[in-house]
Amino acid sequence: MKTRILRVVNELEKEKIKEAAKIIAEGGLVAFPTETVYGLGADGKSPLAAQKIYEAKGRPSDNPLIVHIAQIEQLEDWGKDIPESAYKLAERFWPGPLTMVVKKQPSVPLETTGGLPTVALRMPRNEIALELIRESGCAIAAPSANTSGRPSPTKAKHVIEDLDGKIDMIIDGGTVGIGLESTIVDLTEEKIMILRPGAITKEMLEEVVEEVVVDPGLLETNAIEKPKAPGMKYRHYAPKGDLTIVHGSKGAVVEKINQLVTMQQSQGKKAAVIGTSETLEEYQGDVILSIGSRENEMEIAANLYDYLRKLDEEKVDVIYSESFHTPKMGQAIMNRLLKAAGHKIIEVEDK
Ligand code: TXA
Ligand code: MG
Repeated sequence: MKTRILRVVNELEKEKIKEAAKIIAEGGLVAFPTETVYGLGADGKSPLAAQKIYEAKGRPSDNPLIVHIAQIEQLEDWGKDIPESAYKLAERFWPGPLTMVVKKQPSVPLETTGGLPTVALRMPRNEIALELIRESGCAIAAPSANTSGRPSPTKAKHVIEDLDGKIDMIIDGGTVGIGLESTIVDLTEEKIMILRPGAITKEMLEEVVEEVVVDPGLLETNAIEKPKAPGMKYRHYAPKGDLTIVHGSKGAVVEKINQLVTMQQSQGKKAAVIGTSETLEEYQGDVILSIGSRENEMEIAANLYDYLRKLDEEKVDVIYSESFHTPKMGQAIMNRLLKAAGHKIIEVEDK
């Protein structure tokens, strides 16, 4: 299949967006930008289109898709028994990086929900995406537009790397703003539960609704409970090089990473370091990247997936990364980084 790549600067390029919307309405696949990561979109009500998504991504079909809508009223077309909290959260955070899981309407195909009786809904904060949804006349089912197991795409270039030749069209809307996937909350139980951390934090949610709990299956120390979002159980975002996180005070981390790099190099391995602008000068290694400033978690989030992909291109054998503070966005950053590292973390102490 020939994939068309369409550069779209903004939502005012209506003709181009119309072309893309037509593909979706006719059952095809279009990758498009959102504020979090690029999505791979198809008509959410078409079982066949959902199957095409799974095929293009090489994704297990028990992993449900997020349905993207453009108006709050669409909530009722997709969800049923929608709790009051959903409207409060939508009012406050939509359009934006929040996905809500509610009971699904019978008309929602099980192919879209991975066989679940619930459906995940989100209204993206990106004008191109919203215009595409409106023009297509559909709600758009879209997972992240990467091959299953690779970091989510934050630039059209990443989508091209993974999906060129496998989908009908890629809308190149430039680099996304946030760089990590949306926060997912489950509204089907008594307590609202975070299934995946993202830019909307527990504290922000609790400004609008009462107590919010975090899925215990997400904790790295929890080997018993499986995460509730099916996608969170897969080894995701995995770079090709073997990634280890080193955690501790600044000086001790730098010393440990340099030691490990030297050891790996002496065995003929190509070693990379993910540091920060505060530590960059102090590292040795074959590839040394600064992911941003420790003080700017939005910058770190925006660079993370791009850098994991760069390290794949560099064909490094091993990667050592600093760990990051976890106030707001930091929780999502460490959640993704720990998954990329298969939870390999070395704790170092000051001497
Ligand atoms: O920011 C985002 O959410 C991006 C953009 C494109 O919108 N999308 C995204 O989709 O990250 P995806 O498919 O890569 O991740 C969707 C996650 C998976 O972990 C999936 O298991 C979970 O959402 N999910 C979807 N429907 C669910 C449901 N009904 N119940 C529980 N988890 C669900
Ligand atoms: Mg994904």
